[in-house]
Amino acid sequence: MDPRALPRRLADLPDAEIAALRAAFVRAGFDERSLASCEAIAPRQLDAVRVPAVLHELSTRGDDGSRLLAVFAYGGEVATADLTAALGAEAFAVLVRVGALVVDGARTRAALRVLPYRGVWIASDEFHDDDPVMGPGMTTDELANSLSFAGVTSLVDVGCGAGSLALVAKASGVAEVVGTDIDPRAIDYARFNGRLNRLECEWWVGDLGAPVAGRRFDAVVSQPAYVAQPEDLEGSTFLHGGARGDELAVRLLGQLDALLNPRGRAWVLFDTPDPGARQIADRVNAGLGTGRFDLCLVVTPGNSAADQSIGYASLRDGGLGRVYAETYAAYRRHFARLGVERVRHVLVHARGTTGRAAGFVVEPAGLAGFSGALLERLLDAVAWSGATDEELLAAAVRPNEAARLVHEQSLSASGDVRLWVRFERGAGVDQELSDTAALLVTCLRDHRPLRAAIAAWAEEVELDGAEAQAQVLMFVRQGLRSGLLVVG
Ligand SMILES: C[S@@+](CC[C@H](N)C(=O)[O-])C[C@H]1O[C@@H](n2cnc3c(N)ncnc32)[C@H](O)[C@@H]1O
Repeated sequence: MDPRALPRRLADLPDAEIAALRAAFVRAGFDERSLASCEAIAPRQLDAVRVPAVLHELSTRGDDGSRLLAVFAYGGEVATADLTAALGAEAFAVLVRVGALVVDGARTRAALRVLPYRGVWIASDEFHDDDPVMGPGMTTDELANSLSFAGVTSLVDVGCGAGSLALVAKASGVAEVVGTDIDPRAIDYARFNGRLNRLECEWWVGDLGAPVAGRRFDAVVSQPAYVAQPEDLEGSTFLHGGARGDELAVRLLGQLDALLNPRGRAWVLFDTPDPGARQIADRVNAGLGTGRFDLCLVVTPGNSAADQSIGYASLRDGGLGRVYAETYAAYRRHFARLGVERVRHVLVHARGTTGRAAGFVVEPAGLAGFSGALLERLLDAVAWSGATDEELLAAAVRPNEAARLVHEQSLSASGDVRLWVRFERGAGVDQELSDTAALLVTCLRDHRPLRAAIAAWAEEVELDGAEAQAQVLMFVRQGLRSGLLVVG
């Protein structure tokens, strides 16, 4: 049996056999809650360190869900009799027949991965050297967190891999969902995963948006392959995006104009070797090639060249042996040639413009605080910064709800007091405020529309109306652009 054809055999299973498999997963309690408890063991360690600890923990539990997690999520072996009982005889036999389970006498292991992910199950390859298909990972999660499907009726997931994001979108109620990927094996997994989860999507093999050329969508989501490829290292389709890494992502940006409806939105996540926000913004704008988008760039520090090299070398050789050392050196030399000490990790959120084309860059410590709803509000806010005075005076301008006013007092003899706006979970860039600006922010919290907040503030600081209005309008425009203030 050709192991490379496993996803095709899975995708072509009859309905009844897929239903038996699904029923077995439900019955066994093979879900995210039990997965999360395993992921909490030795977090952030390399798999070589972490996985044996997780498998040990699972072996002490002895319930069906733990057995499925050991085999499907962590590549462990389980007693054949226990696994047959956990899956039921029918589902077990189906998986053995297609080569998804490998029975070695009394022990059985899986030849693929299956992860419970945001309410769906995603089957993908176990990591191997032969161009594997990727299931959901940490960066899939970052992108999923930043999405919002409100008002989205059609979506294309470009470079969908095993279909994780497309299926999450479909499960969230998006009516028309399409996944594309250049790797036919990825699309076979995606087809299987769609059927396993009873979610109907369209799946196409092809380069970026080419399979859906001529069609337009409300949303494009993509985490294309974006790792820099050393020239002396064989490439992986799921990983490498070009010599710099970001070439594929930038090429996709150039297709957004044709892929999106006039008010459509795109989320594209990638790494880039460019060191600063300015260069990144220039490259993104050049890639887009059009001013018809409001643009929010979330630029986070990303990994150091050394950490990046460790991470990708350990993928090739989980046992951290000779191949690991050679691969580490190849990445390290490549990053040195590129002059890269640290890659930047970038989330581009583009939205068909409201008419006043807007763009802004935030540089938080990480992506944790960036929900889709927050990105939308930030984009709206930036667009509002270009509104007329009259429009702004009538608008409900208020502080961003992720912002906190922090009163900081030195314990030195001077007892200095400073006021800051700090953002929860890195959802904005912290800034210091003067006393009067802090007072204005609280007036904006308590009074709407802006005209009313200005009147309240003018009284507090004893300024005449016209002077107060001029100062506040300037502060508000700047606050809208920096993410401190939002409208609505
Ligand atoms: C980092 S993986 C992301 C998979 C999935 N979207 C996720 O978030 O879990 C990148 C995917 O891009 C696909 N890919 C690479 N080059 C491509 C291309 N030129 N056109 C379409 N897909 C491509 C790979 O096969 C891989 O599935």
